[in-house]
Amino acid sequence: MKVFTEQEIRTSFNALGNNIPKSVYVYHLNLLKERINHLKESFPSENVLHAIAIKTNNLTRVLSFIVSSGCGLEAASFEEVKLALSVGCKPEKIVFDSPVKTSEELLHCNKNIPGLKVNANSFGELKKLESCNNLNIGIRINPMLNLDSPDIFMVSGAGSKFGIPITERENILKAIQSNTSIKGLHIHPGSEIKSLSQHIACIKVVYDLAIEVNREVQNKISWIDIGGGIKPKVDKNNTQSTIIPFLNMLKKECPTLFNDFKVITEYGRYIHTYCAYAASRVEDILTYHTPNIALIHLGADMFLREIYSSTPPKHNYYNLSRINEEKRQYDIGGPLCFSGDFISKNEKISRLDVGDYIGISDCGSNSISMWSQHCSREKPKVIYVQ
Ligand SMILES: Cc1ncc(COP(=O)(O)O)c(C=O)c1O
Repeated sequence: MKVFTEQEIRTSFNALGNNIPKSVYVYHLNLLKERINHLKESFPSENVLHAIAIKTNNLTRVLSFIVSSGCGLEAASFEEVKLALSVGCKPEKIVFDSPVKTSEELLHCNKNIPGLKVNANSFGELKKLESCNNLNIGIRINPMLNLDSPDIFMVSGAGSKFGIPITERENILKAIQSNTSIKGLHIHPGSEIKSLSQHIACIKVVYDLAIEVNREVQNKISWIDIGGGIKPKVDKNNTQSTIIPFLNMLKKECPTLFNDFKVITEYGRYIHTYCAYAASRVEDILTYHTPNIALIHLGADMFLREIYSSTPPKHNYYNLSRINEEKRQYDIGGPLCFSGDFISKNEKISRLDVGDYIGISDCGSNSISMWSQHCSREKPKVIYVQ
């Protein structure tokens, strides 16, 4: 199995029995294992660290599973560094990225978590890191290139708050030369990147810089962190189709990358998207609107990007309590107190009754980890399946 298909979601949901709470979130650990194995088998086996992005899915059992499979974790905050340590991740396999790290946090890491990898986001942060000799420091570079990724995930151009622009090349080189703890370069160009060539062009900016630095001082840059950004797409044969073409082009454009450097990746969506589904009871149906509005227990509290983004992630919706009934159109509304709280509009779905359960596919990424406190509602019950 490569994704939770409709049939598999139905079988899994039926196996939960009768006492189902108002909403559930079901994460499939074997799917995670398949995804991780595919990633590991596709990349060279030596000298690569896959640090999976915690922000994409921060369930502790999922994180423990990732760590036990030999991967590392990418932490987007000091709190996520602590989370990574709490699930047994070794400091040298944790990558601390965040655009707003405090001096106190960095000094704490230097004293207590030697070997931790920290990617500095700016010259100001490099200054805070000057005395942090126990840390393994990288510099996040903004390649200043256009990228075909949805606007809110595009972090590689002018005005981005992420990384030092490559146009600051001279100052970057000076900073690297003056700090012996700087051993790496980092780039995360964006998410859901459509164009392979643009994605690789961004990575090449950092690769070329590393080669330039090492020409002056041999082996000064020992690792390159190429970030995340690969789309989680599977093709119609259920083949995980995006990694191999990406790697083929990467090896062609950056021929010594895997020989001369340790490579770190930070995939999030690619790993998690297809590993989970959610289900909610239909609590009410407003029949006086066309289409009818089905009200459920999950909305903008779990599906923030779906509701607030102009390029929302796609899901499939199924009536898990009925099959093969006449399909009707519904708007599916969440439980929060604002009018925009609809996770889907004009959704064609088997006829719904109050008390039926709606299943929502492909919920592994940026869903439960983005849970919002708006209206103070409780999270869905999390269930793990193997
Ligand atoms: C620094 C960094 N690394 C990795 C990721 C994961 O990206 P993706 O889910 O697109 O692979 C993100 C996502 O925002 C990020 O900001």
